[in-house]
Amino acid sequence: MLTLNCGIATLREWQRGDEDAVVTVADNPNVSRYMRDTFPSPYTHDDAAAWIARNEAAEQDTHFAIVLDGRVVGGVGFVLHQAERRIVADIGYWLGEPFWGRGIATAACSAVTAYAFEQYELRRIEAPVYAPNVASRRVLEKCGYECEGIMRSAVIKKGEVLDAHLYAKIRCP
Ligand SMILES: CC(C)(COP(=O)(O)OP(=O)(O)OC[C@H]1O[C@@H](n2cnc3c(N)ncnc32)[C@H](O)[C@@H]1OP(=O)(O)O)[C@@H](O)C(=O)NCCC(=O)NCCS
Repeated sequence: MLTLNCGIATLREWQRGDEDAVVTVADNPNVSRYMRDTFPSPYTHDDAAAWIARNEAAEQDTHFAIVLDGRVVGGVGFVLHQAERRIVADIGYWLGEPFWGRGIATAACSAVTAYAFEQYELRRIEAPVYAPNVASRRVLEKCGYECEGIMRSAVIKKGEVLDAHLYAKIRCP
């Protein structure tokens, strides 16, 4: 099984048996609040099973469970773009609320950024972050991502129209 050590936690492939742990940490409106709508809320056991099955079937290892002291506490991963954008990936991460504020997302994002640049012919990794998500913007800044601009009125979450800050990191030559 592919495992990445990010110091504070271990990142490993998703596996069957993670479902209950995922629901425990992911089924929280504070977690889904600034995630894409593809992150379910409420987050059910079926949602967790579908996510794990999808990753088991995937040809590439691009999504990882964040494991702390043997417990799944969140997820981190990237989506590879296609065609003329094949040099670009989108990164994302989330953690159960009790685990916020300990530097875990920064360590996980940093390790996965390095892994993605090592394993794929990427020139750029990006993340659009919804404006109120200050913690996530800070995570990206700590990982060396730069804010390239603000996409105004880019998304609607719970009836509220939000700007999105576009962060990106370019491969070092
Ligand atoms: C965003 C998230 C992943 C951050 O995880 P985390 O492990 O708490 O992040 P870290 O501890 O590595 O770093 C958070 C940084 O944001 C800062 N921060 C947190 N809340 C903040 C706020 N309201 N205002 C300013 N800074 C804030 C912290 O102080 C820390 O920065 P520092 O190290 O310079 O002090 C976590 O809050 C989460 O899972 N949120 C829900 C899912 C989500 O929004 N994912 C990202 C979608 S783009």
